[in-house]
Amino acid sequence: MILLTGGAGYIGSHMLCELLEANHDVIILDNLSNSSVEAVKRVESLTNKHCTFIEGDIRDRQLLDDIFSQHSIDSVLHFAGLKAVGESAEKPLMYFENNITGSLVLLEAMKAANVKKIVFSSSATVYGDPEQLPITEDCPTSMPTNPYGYTKLAVEQMMMQLVQSDPAWSVAALRYFNPVGAHSSGMIGEDPQGVPNNLLPYIAQVSVGRRDKLSVYGNDYDTHDGTGVRDYIHVVDLAKGHLRALDYIADKTGYFVWNLGTGNGFSVLDMVKAFENASGKKIPYQVVDRREGDIAACFADPKKAAVELGWTTQKNIDDMMEDTWRWQSQNPQGYGN
Ligand code: NAD
Ligand code: UFG
Repeated sequence: MILLTGGAGYIGSHMLCELLEANHDVIILDNLSNSSVEAVKRVESLTNKHCTFIEGDIRDRQLLDDIFSQHSIDSVLHFAGLKAVGESAEKPLMYFENNITGSLVLLEAMKAANVKKIVFSSSATVYGDPEQLPITEDCPTSMPTNPYGYTKLAVEQMMMQLVQSDPAWSVAALRYFNPVGAHSSGMIGEDPQGVPNNLLPYIAQVSVGRRDKLSVYGNDYDTHDGTGVRDYIHVVDLAKGHLRALDYIADKTGYFVWNLGTGNGFSVLDMVKAFENASGKKIPYQVVDRREGDIAACFADPKKAAVELGWTTQKNIDDMMEDTWRWQSQNPQGYGN
């Protein structure tokens, strides 16, 4: 059985879908601080399979002990966390408490239960402003410019030292580039609360009239059209990467890091155009100042995951846009419908 923390969230719900389709038994722990249980219900109806859902917090040690003692858990997929970069700059202690303390409590409970396999949702943010492109896993990590990024690096380093202290652990840190898209059914997708921080959810909300226009944060970067370049990866490809990582660590111990990206960079304006093509909707935009903390370009070298995990992305930019449009147009208010 797999414990999936944060399984009601955007990426977690797509992960749940892949896990159930691969016939894994899954128990979800999520406090619903940024998600809806509706996502879990929809995955169950999509897959015609069931999981156990527990509404609760990864910082609740007693609850974790109960979960580990009542279920025979082999591995943990750890997605639970707060992820808004801007909010983290305003409330750093809340981010340290939730993401770092939460992960620490989870690791302590795992140790006590002798469950020593974990796959962790890390981020390309740990590379900071990259020294080279594409980014390989041996590029140096650097002190992130925001508290959210710091929590990812801190948890990675905690787990690395844990493995050094006890080689029975098996830890996979997956450094995501920019997850986008939705399940091809249109039944689950990204449903940010409040004003979206990220590009594609913002574009999608403009397309259904929830926002007037997109603000493009700067067009004077050193990129092909001056706007920021990122490596957007379809959330279903991303989830499949976790299944491979889980298989990989099943019979190995140690600390492993993999980039999960496509290796391709698209600019903000490329994304606007691709979304317009997929949706037939015009996306009005206005160029504004750069957003503080943004970098010009960031994209992965995904070779290590290809060679070691046998994983490569299958979905292209048009799939990402078509699936986002299907989800957004079928659920203009997200799960609030
Ligand atoms: P999300 O907010 O949709 O999902 C996170 C889930 O964790 C939510 O369901 C939330 O309710 C839950 N949660 C938060 N704190 C919790 C706690 N203390 N106890 C229990 N549940 C808790 O975010 P997502 O986009 O699905 O991201 C999943 C993971 O991937 C996060 O760790 C995030 O930092 C990481 N990540 C996301 C991105 C991205 O762009 N979406 C990029 C890199 C890494
Ligand atoms: N952008 C806009 N307008 C918007 C939103 C974004 O122009 O309204 C631009 C940004 O300036 C950037 C690009 O679109 O050039 C992508 O921005 P996102 O906010 O979607 O993504 P980021 O690359 O800034 O950050 C994301 C996640 C982080 C994660 C990082 C690396 O939000 O959590 O990818 O994986 F750490």
